[in-house]
Amino acid sequence: MKAAYREHYRDALTVREVAQPVAHPDEILVRVHATTVNRTDCAVMTGKPFIMRFFTGLMKPRSPIPGTDFAGEVVAVGDKVSLFKKGQRVFGFNDQGLGSQAEYVAVSEQQAVAEIPQNVSYPQAAASLEAAHYAYNFLSKVKHTAGAQVLVNGATGGIGSAMVQFLRHAGVRVTATANTKNLALVKQLGAERVINFEIEDFTRIEDRFEFVFDAVGKSTFCKCRHLLKPKGVYISSEPGPWLQNPLLALFTPLLPGKTVKFPLPLDIKRSIKFISELLASGAFKPVIDRTYALDQIAEAYTYVASGAKTGNVVIEI
Ligand SMILES: NC(=O)c1ccc[n+]([C@@H]2O[C@H](COP(=O)([O-])OP(=O)(O)OC[C@H]3O[C@@H](n4cnc5c(N)ncnc54)[C@H](OP(=O)(O)O)[C@@H]3O)[C@@H](O)[C@H]2O)c1
Repeated sequence: MKAAYREHYRDALTVREVAQPVAHPDEILVRVHATTVNRTDCAVMTGKPFIMRFFTGLMKPRSPIPGTDFAGEVVAVGDKVSLFKKGQRVFGFNDQGLGSQAEYVAVSEQQAVAEIPQNVSYPQAAASLEAAHYAYNFLSKVKHTAGAQVLVNGATGGIGSAMVQFLRHAGVRVTATANTKNLALVKQLGAERVINFEIEDFTRIEDRFEFVFDAVGKSTFCKCRHLLKPKGVYISSEPGPWLQNPLLALFTPLLPGKTVKFPLPLDIKRSIKFISELLASGAFKPVIDRTYALDQIAEAYTYVASGAKTGNVVIEI
């Protein structure tokens, strides 16, 4: 089969012929129709930040084939598989790597894999995994109620564009930041007010919020603290300068007032269940920026690593 391939973290990504995987007794073999290149892929691919290597291989990647998500069709099942059958449309994600940027992938039925809701295409399904999982993970860390006011910094990213839709679905009132070219898109996703971060500093607005979700991880608690109501919560997608966000998440809950939470994204199965329900009801439609062929995957990585994508970047196979 054809697969994206690199043996060492420093290697350039190529596309080559490799042996097709075979499903072990507890695995399903999936013919991959779509996968994405996302920010987690960039970390798995390069082993940076270094902490990634404790999960993906210390000296060199455990799997030479990158890829953390897939959407495709089950073409074979192992003897012990009971949850899936041949012909089913499935999608799945593992932030430590699945080797899914290939024509076929074999995954255990115990992994975070689920049936794709009807009327959702393979590219849409693939684009509903990584960023949407992290977005849901913010929301699941707090008790948000309908009518609450939330500020989403970076609503044009993969995480932010899913987050705005999830919040709208929950009846939350969203103020979001976006770049000039995506102001209309972010309004359409469900933001009540959109601040153009290219001409306005969102930290200077008068409004106050129950939650500030820094979906793009470019701000800090210190810069956003005054935007929070008295018991408000700040969550960022990045650890922040000197790992301040995980540290603040340990100490701020010990004090009265505003707190920081760090969204360790552990329960992928729970996220996929939530995402599937919203996809099925039409409440969530992933934003797809660009689509590439597998042969163009190195170009897709360069684009995603530039930090300039809008929503998600799909590889159609
Ligand atoms: N903690 C985790 O486990 C985890 C997992 C995945 C990702 N992440 C991190 O989460 C962050 C977001 O990921 P993502 O995939 O959503 O990002 P992304 O899609 O790459 O975000 C790109 C978008 O963010 C916008 N942007 C850039 N700087 C901005 C700023 N200062 N204010 C507002 N918007 C800005 C860009 O607009 P322009 O093009 O106009 O600049 C672009 O539209 C990344 O830093 C990523 O490393 C963390």
